[in-house]
Amino acid sequence: LTEINDDLARLTQDARNIAVITGAGFSAESGVPTFREAQTGLWERFSAQDLATTDAFYTAPALVWTWYRWRQSLIQQVEPNPGHTALADWQRWLAGRGGELSIATQNVDDLHERAGAQVLAHLHGSIFEHRCAECGVAAELPDPDYDGFQAPPEPEEPPLCADCGAHIRPGVVWFGEMLPMEAFEAAAAAIRKADLVIVAGTSGIVQPAASLPLLALERGTPLIEVNPEPTELSDAMDFCLRGPSGDLLPALAAAAGAR
Ligand code: APR
Repeated sequence: LTEINDDLARLTQDARNIAVITGAGFSAESGVPTFREAQTGLWERFSAQDLATTDAFYTAPALVWTWYRWRQSLIQQVEPNPGHTALADWQRWLAGRGGELSIATQNVDDLHERAGAQVLAHLHGSIFEHRCAECGVAAELPDPDYDGFQAPPEPEEPPLCADCGAHIRPGVVWFGEMLPMEAFEAAAAAIRKADLVIVAGTSGIVQPAASLPLLALERGTPLIEVNPEPTELSDAMDFCLRGPSGDLLPALAAAAGAR
């Protein structure tokens, strides 16, 4: 589908418990590159998958650290897009009617929150949090002062832990690392009790986050995908809305009557 048909509109109007899972594509229209896009500047010869790993951090701490600090500065310089705003409005509208719209995101940015939404789970952590790579103590750091639109000329070493002297690392989940269990369980519980599940802006490649929407199949809960492209999850979907979340989430929120 490229637009909302009557069945889908009715589904959104009747839904009282909606679980929404978002991925990098949701922030793409804000100017935050998705993971499968090519990198630029210092990192142009690396893919995100090369950089978002523990091995990469131990092998080239300055390169990985600077990539995250540069991306944090970019996120601080861009704005939530109409998809974030529509989701926040829809969440508020539903709460006002005794319903609930919960958001579990794979994104490490704060654009849902900055659009006024409550986020139930950051499945892959947050780029704004930092901790010691060894002892795990949280580190409070000043905001990076990079120009997020211009990659820095050279990498900088990560700061060292005040307690144990090891490198400080970004508070994100790297490939191969465990997800924060409380976030994962909260997202799973929300999907299990939902009467509608929306999966927006994710390729559905990275596990275990990608398996969460499939929990909806246990109870026959309708599944909607919002993505310009087909994904690993498309075959499991009841509706595939082919288009950008910045257009389609406002349309879904309007169809639900939330706007
Ligand atoms: N609206 C909706 N979807 C979009 C848009 C848009 N405007 N633009 C791109 N997309 C879709 C792409 O078609 C793709 O399916 O967003 C998806 C982005 O996929 P990925 O880059 O794989 O991002 P994501 O699925 O969130 O990756 C999951 O993997 O790289 C790790 O931890 C990282 O959280 C990330 C996880």
